[in-house]
Amino acid sequence: MRGRVGGTRPPCREGHPARTSGFPPHAKILDVSANDRPTGQQTKQQSRTYDSAFLKACRREPVPHTPVWFMRQAGRSLPEYLKVREGIPMLESCMRPELVTEITLQPVRRHKVDAAIYFSDIVVPLKAIGLDLDIKPGVGPVVADPIRTRADLARLRDLTPEDVHYVTEAIGMLTGELGDTPLIGFAGAPFTLASYLVEGGPSRSHERTKAMMYGDPQLWADLLDRLAEITSAFLKVQIEAGASAVQLFDSWVGALAPADYRRSVMPASVKVFDAVAGYGVPRIHFGVGTGELLGLMGEAGADVVGVDWRVPLDEAARRVGPGKALQGNLDPAVLFAPTEVVEAKTDEVLAAAKGLEGHVFNLGHGVMPSMDPDALTRLVEYVHTRTTV
Ligand code: CP3
Repeated sequence: MRGRVGGTRPPCREGHPARTSGFPPHAKILDVSANDRPTGQQTKQQSRTYDSAFLKACRREPVPHTPVWFMRQAGRSLPEYLKVREGIPMLESCMRPELVTEITLQPVRRHKVDAAIYFSDIVVPLKAIGLDLDIKPGVGPVVADPIRTRADLARLRDLTPEDVHYVTEAIGMLTGELGDTPLIGFAGAPFTLASYLVEGGPSRSHERTKAMMYGDPQLWADLLDRLAEITSAFLKVQIEAGASAVQLFDSWVGALAPADYRRSVMPASVKVFDAVAGYGVPRIHFGVGTGELLGLMGEAGADVVGVDWRVPLDEAARRVGPGKALQGNLDPAVLFAPTEVVEAKTDEVLAAAKGLEGHVFNLGHGVMPSMDPDALTRLVEYVHTRTTV
């Protein structure tokens, strides 16, 4: 099933369990394995944010200004983030709803971005199903016992809403606070999750991952299929709780050639996008160094294709084809240059975005910890000023 984002406004589904109180009782959480929400029905929060510039741009409708948000906007570039995180390990902080709420709201308050992204990490659902992994500061996710054999697959059990009850709780709290600012839910795509699981941690060349993909295609396909199930369940939890859009991060898939992507990765990503198509919330797909894959990543089922800084947006639009919005794509490193340079480079991005059907302004990858938060605030204001109609 392919969902369609746009067209007439779908009805709001009142009395949805996640919306009847700020803290939905776990027992009432819907079974996320059943895609029981008919196409086009919305939670109250999805309805409240429907006319936001961000969701309009995702739906390729006219916008009052180009909406802006930043990947990794919630995090280490903010002193208020470092303060609330003091002494609390990363993964533990993802499981505390009050803390998640506060951290998710911090960049919205400070930068006046057009969307919030849920504070979590791509490995949270894997931790939630019982894998022994941690996020090491300055390193990233590290897996104690990597997944390398068929027997290892048995450790990847299904994810239930109860496994991530804190996500439902946090989104319940957040949607009350966010008002008409949309919340973006997210997950890691099967390839990027597999790369951490197979390598056991971050990797530049993804050699063990590719060795499995090329050397044991059936095991690889089964691994990606398992991860697609888990990822789909995780995204459904976030949408059911009130996320107005979702982003699938396939951060490291740019390591693959198009033919290998199509054969060995795309079916699993298609499965994830199909699983959430019926909700009618925009689905964003992003990876780094994916210039050669942009068309296929759109074809996988995205409504919005994220572009890093290497391909100008007008060229990206040609590669993606009609019927999709684009997101991006200022080189994050530009933020370290003087304000006039940031503005000039932003103008280049906006000029390349002129003819797009829909444009969400973002960086070409995440905010870096050493970035000056004031430069980000100025950038949001600049894009808004330059694009207000
Ligand atoms: O965008 C946001 O603000 C929401 C929060 C978010 C985090 N991770 C918080 C985080 C999101 C969307 C992610 C996604 C994520 N995590 C990705 C895909 C996005 C991308 O950047 O391509 C990936 C590949 C990961 C895996 C991961 N987790 C890495 C590479 C790291 C950084 C390791 C380091 O310290 O250099 C993490 C840790 C992490 N995730 C931090 C944050 C705020 C830093 C933890 C800390 O504050 O100590």
